[in-house]
Amino acid sequence: MSGFSVNWLDLREPADQAARHKGLATTLVNFLQADADISPIIVDLGSGTGSTLRALTGLGAQQCVWRLVDHDPALLNEALRRHSQGEIVEDYQADLQEVDALPLGGAALLSASALFDLVSEELVDALIARLRTQPTAIYAALNYDGRTEWTPVHPLDEAVLMAFNQDQRRDKGMGPALGPDAAGYMQSMLENAGYRVLTGDSAWLLGPDQQALVADLIRGIRTAVADDDALSAAALDEWQAFRLSHAASGHGLIGHIDVLAFPPTD
Ligand SMILES: C[S@@+](CC[C@H](N)C(=O)[O-])C[C@H]1O[C@@H](n2cnc3c(N)ncnc32)[C@H](O)[C@@H]1O
Repeated sequence: MSGFSVNWLDLREPADQAARHKGLATTLVNFLQADADISPIIVDLGSGTGSTLRALTGLGAQQCVWRLVDHDPALLNEALRRHSQGEIVEDYQADLQEVDALPLGGAALLSASALFDLVSEELVDALIARLRTQPTAIYAALNYDGRTEWTPVHPLDEAVLMAFNQDQRRDKGMGPALGPDAAGYMQSMLENAGYRVLTGDSAWLLGPDQQALVADLIRGIRTAVADDDALSAAALDEWQAFRLSHAASGHGLIGHIDVLAFPPTD
């Protein structure tokens, strides 16, 4: 339904967990645990199988009420299968574009991982407007920022990256996507709305241990840029073969930025 399989989300999760900015995540967990008598409500948008839940509980977020929101029932069912015994988890099958219907009431935190580069400026604006009347923090982790660097280099790397970053702005079902602009746009809109905003680098640093992820990523990039007029199929075939031949020995950096924002206090 969404195009995000459990297999792909599982494949990327170790790289995501290693990449999350630890300083920001620790600051967030301390905020959530500040009052031992309160069970903070966390609304995780585009939750998939629950990677944000796993990341924050792993860092010490306890006694939270997790509202997982996704339009894909298979991913929500997998999240419930993994977590309904150990955590308080509520699942909401919903389209994120229906901002007024999202279950944000009473939330201490709105979270999302690997989501905001897929959404439009309008969706970010609508979420901030919806939250204006309530004191909810925002944690948007792992927003792709446009950096993709490979070692060893290939002559076509730069042209492929330009085409890939262009594709990242394509409508993925939630309006023209912010793509590499996601973190910067969120930061400026949240600061304009009076939030205190922190950002941190959360790049994937991929090496031989992530060979399967690297190979999937390269095939995904090849597919994403296939229709770009500046790249011939033959040149892309050669690029893909070169990149795959180094998946077990080379390195890659895929840039992400985490955003943590605390609401205005007055
Ligand atoms: C890149 S995945 C990230 C999943 C999870 N946060 C993680 O980090 O593993 C994006 C998620 O957004 C969900 N999604 C995409 N479009 C959506 C929409 N219009 N409404 C609700 N969820 C959506 C997908 O089903 C998927 O679970």
